[in-house]
Amino acid sequence: MRPPPVTAAVRVRRAEVSDLDDLVALEESSFAQDRLSRAQYRKHLDSESALVLVASANHRRFLGTAVVFFRKGTRVARLYSIATQPQAQGKGVGSALIAAAEEAGRHRGCHALRLEVRKDNAVAIRLYERLGYRRIGEYARYYADGADAFRFEKAL
Ligand SMILES: CC(C)(COP(=O)(O)OP(=O)(O)OC[C@H]1O[C@@H](n2cnc3c(N)ncnc32)[C@H](O)[C@@H]1OP(=O)(O)O)[C@@H](O)C(=O)NCCC(=O)NCCS
Repeated sequence: MRPPPVTAAVRVRRAEVSDLDDLVALEESSFAQDRLSRAQYRKHLDSESALVLVASANHRRFLGTAVVFFRKGTRVARLYSIATQPQAQGKGVGSALIAAAEEAGRHRGCHALRLEVRKDNAVAIRLYERLGYRRIGEYARYYADGADAFRFEKAL
């Protein structure tokens, strides 16, 4: 298998309050609906059951983000959201964010990471499959605009 397009300079860190403007702006440019609001991001920053990750590189402090949810009573973590700045896509930022989400899941004792993706999001689906995610289900009219979803999972 071809190695992932890793940009060596990509670093992933936990989001801080000072990232809120960038988080909200990227959310608005990436998703037409089902968006996380500023208040929701703010809440997740301090939550035990959420992890907001930010990818950065040498001179760029905000290239993309991923949101992971953990719930009590289940060892399945959920990748709720992932987005890379449009001009930074295709350079390994998304892969680095997913790797960090998986590492965080393992660290918390989770045995799997799950996610939902729009059936028409070919770029994201190809990325998940390349990283070892397999399709475990599908949901009709999962999104606010009526789009269907696939559910993917990877063992950690
Ligand atoms: C899905 C997403 C997070 C991937 O982030 P990324 O930083 O581009 O990820 P990577 O660079 O690690 O890998 C992306 C893959 O898609 C390809 N790609 C990235 N941008 C692309 C584009 N605009 N057009 C075609 N292919 C693209 C890359 O070459 C790479 O291909 P590969 O898996 O065959 O190697 C990003 O495309 C994005 O933010 N999309 C909008 C939001 C979204 O759809 N989120 C996912 C649903 S929640």
